[in-house]
Amino acid sequence: MEIKNEAILVMDFGGQYTQLIARRVRECNVYCEIKPYNITAEEIAERGYRGIIFTGGPNSAYDDKGPKCDPKLFELGIPVLGICYGAQLMAVTLGGKVIGIEDNREYGKTEIEVNPSSLMFHSAKAKNICWMSHTDRIEEVPHGFKITAISKDCPVAAMEDIKRNFFAVQFHPEVQHTVEGQLYLRNFLYNACGCTADWRMDSFVNDTIEYLREKIGDKKVLCALSGGVDSSVAALLVHKAVGKQLTCIFVDHGLLRKDEGDQVESVFKEQFDMNLIRVNAQERFLTKLAGVSEPERKRKIIGEEFIRVFEEESKKLGKIEYLCQGTIYPDVVESGVGQSAVIKSHHNVGGLPEDVGFEGIIEPLRDLFKDEVRKAGIELGIPEFLVFRQPFPGPGLAIRIMGDITEEKLEILKDADAIMREEFANNGLDREVGQYFAVMTGIKSVGVMGDGRTYDNTIAMRAVTTSDFMTADWARIPYDVLEKISNRIINEVKNVNRVVYDITSKPPATIEWE
Ligand code: XMP
Repeated sequence: MEIKNEAILVMDFGGQYTQLIARRVRECNVYCEIKPYNITAEEIAERGYRGIIFTGGPNSAYDDKGPKCDPKLFELGIPVLGICYGAQLMAVTLGGKVIGIEDNREYGKTEIEVNPSSLMFHSAKAKNICWMSHTDRIEEVPHGFKITAISKDCPVAAMEDIKRNFFAVQFHPEVQHTVEGQLYLRNFLYNACGCTADWRMDSFVNDTIEYLREKIGDKKVLCALSGGVDSSVAALLVHKAVGKQLTCIFVDHGLLRKDEGDQVESVFKEQFDMNLIRVNAQERFLTKLAGVSEPERKRKIIGEEFIRVFEEESKKLGKIEYLCQGTIYPDVVESGVGQSAVIKSHHNVGGLPEDVGFEGIIEPLRDLFKDEVRKAGIELGIPEFLVFRQPFPGPGLAIRIMGDITEEKLEILKDADAIMREEFANNGLDREVGQYFAVMTGIKSVGVMGDGRTYDNTIAMRAVTTSDFMTADWARIPYDVLEKISNRIINEVKNVNRVVYDITSKPPATIEWE
């Protein structure tokens, strides 16, 4: 989708912060794209990038086996910023020298002294804290470069060649611990690359609606709406563009949280007047799932049944040319060291096969990170409870009920989970904690209620803090909040006599129990 004027290229050399660099650039209101390190100079010139950023990476720049860039890109007249490995690669490629350091390797917070009259450190404090993580260092700068920052153990913490617009920093400006990192990046983007910060959510939303209107013309579009933020924002963009030419199918498998199905229906049908078909398929799914305990089997059954229901419904609608999907940027990004994107295939239960007979796929969020999708959602007027919703797995409550799934267990879990969510919101924890939910553990235990013995269900509470859902820590929820939730669940939900709190991080546990 060619809708932005200024783009920065982030060349990925396998660094762990590649996506973070891209997000930081976007936070400066500059559009950027991540591409593998082996992109050619011709491709770069063709796309018309305003600047290039080399990411870090685990290799040594002097090692032949490490990833290299096309050296011709230095002849394109495009400003380049190298970070960590990227800085060293720039040094080696342009004739400088990089060596391994046996002693005094730098990890973590480090004080640097910068030259504030350099372009990169314009308006910066002369001394500041940055984040280092390297076992090699630049020993000699290439011809034309000046050293612009030093640290105790790093004689070239930054260098620049102002004539050719080449910049390099040994530290990581993108991480939070580099106190003025965002300023350094802005200096590169605005002052070296001449970017004007034209990447804004209001213009993205308007441009995208315009683009979609033109692309779709008088054709029809179908969308599988789950109520999650991605599919909601994608559908609404298409709706704003072509109104009732869009039909959304919302497959309610009955495994959603309490009242969720009704909320989705009311927002999209009543607030936005969208063409929404809600398929109440709870019975169908529960029949297929009857007696099934194995988690992966549950996922498979739900995924397959979802596609079947969707196809049946869409056939009733006659010819539809386009399928709209809520794919976002992290799903499509290619990694730098030769592997393809890690797509959470088994996680994408709502994912539809691309060959279901459409002329084309429309993915209006392909260029956005999650936080940008949320901003677009707000811009479009989607209620905050939907936009800032915690992630919810496609197989829904099915993977939060250990063992087989029955209607009765579902009801217990929905009620317990609703109490937990309500108390998190009452105590301002709902935006702070990455994900939180109740689990039907499948364990029965003995209790005493009134004067009698009980033998009933155990509910577990799970709450984690996480930035990427790849690793997570259990959330330190105040005892009085835990106590309140526990008391309320025992008092208000029938057939529960014990509540426990899960204090396992990920790894070794996963966030979901199944
Ligand atoms: P785990 O349990 O793997 O979860 O630590 C990481 C994140 O992924 C979500 N998750 C899923 N999402 N289908 C989904 O759409 C799934 O089958 C699935 N399993 C886990 C989980 O909620 C968490 O956000």
